Amino acid sequence: MHTSMRRRTTAGVWRRLQAVLVALAMAARPAQCETQQSKKPLVTAVIVFGDSIMDPGNNNGLHTVVKANHPPYGKDFAGHVATGRFSNGLIPTDFIAQGLNLKQLLPPYLGVQHTPEDLLTGVSFASGATGFDPLTPIIVGVISLEQQLAYFDEYRSKLVGIAGEEETRRIIDGALFVVCAGTDDIANTYYTTPFRSAEYDVPAYVDLLLAGVESFLRNVSARGAKRIGFAGLPPIGCVPSQRTLGGGGPRRGCVPERNAAAQLYNARVQELIRELGEEDRAGFPTLVYLDIYAVIQDLVENGERHGFSETTRGCCSTGTVEVAVLCDARFAPVCDDVADHVFFDSYHPTQRAYKVIVDYIFDHYIHFLHL
Ligand SMILES: *[C@@H]1O[C@H](CO)[C@@H](O)[C@H](O)[C@H]1NC(C)=O
Repeated sequence: MHTSMRRRTTAGVWRRLQAVLVALAMAARPAQCETQQSKKPLVTAVIVFGDSIMDPGNNNGLHTVVKANHPPYGKDFAGHVATGRFSNGLIPTDFIAQGLNLKQLLPPYLGVQHTPEDLLTGVSFASGATGFDPLTPIIVGVISLEQQLAYFDEYRSKLVGIAGEEETRRIIDGALFVVCAGTDDIANTYYTTPFRSAEYDVPAYVDLLLAGVESFLRNVSARGAKRIGFAGLPPIGCVPSQRTLGGGGPRRGCVPERNAAAQLYNARVQELIRELGEEDRAGFPTLVYLDIYAVIQDLVENGERHGFSETTRGCCSTGTVEVAVLCDARFAPVCDDVADHVFFDSYHPTQRAYKVIVDYIFDHYIHFLHL
């Protein structure tokens, strides 16, 4: 099985990648012009902070195992390039940028050469496996949310260099900010490592996360964000790896305890967002809670309604535990019916499932963001 994958040499892959990059670079310009001509962008830029759901490749240059810049990641991306996106193709940031008529792909802030236009219309600072608990990024060697804000400050001065202070202010004023993190805090730091669970019960740990959320949102607000979409947590206990690791038994049912933790966090975060919203008149930005719990639960429980027949296993390898470094085409086969799967690896949705989730967000929340 998959001997062709194994036989492919690194040099061969590298040559293919270079050819693909050249093709992409040539294809990018006309596509961008077309979008601009056909539909007016709804925002000036999209600026994203968060974790792997939103990370288009910021982890690629880090010393961490949490990377997706190797096959089979990207197997359905243009040119089959593994860009670092944790999926077989596009991730939510790309669908958000497309849905706002802004651009086809939202680039990572790190590790790529941006055109001025790409910087001006937004980037993602997200880093796979980070979280609101300051310990979470440290355990796995990825970029903290605080550091993502420091990169934002650097990014802002690049915008000033390109377009001047006044235009930069206009861009930030007209931008949509998106924040998505917290899953790794609960799934990894709390339930997988001993560092927090020895000291905190779930409600106390949720308090710790909420302190991080509030501090982060105040810091984003202080940077001039006018509109922020804040994603809640998915049903963490129903993600394939959690079904396997969480004592769901041989039938690998959802882990109720982990879903309850996600729901408690979601309830508390919504309270916090309401409170911060009351500061609205005092200049706090429009802050909208984006519920992704229900839509992902529906995908998992009623997959067939959305055309998915495999909802409990990822497409990569056995689909029960493999993610990032363990999901590697050199060692593990990849399924040949990815479109039937909700999950690509044991943790991250497929491109098709991501599209369902982002369509849901657009249908339900876009008007709250005054777009
Ligand atoms: C927010 O900013 C303060 C002051 O710079 C800093 O101490 C804190 O760590 C920041 N919090 C986050 C989550 O970025």
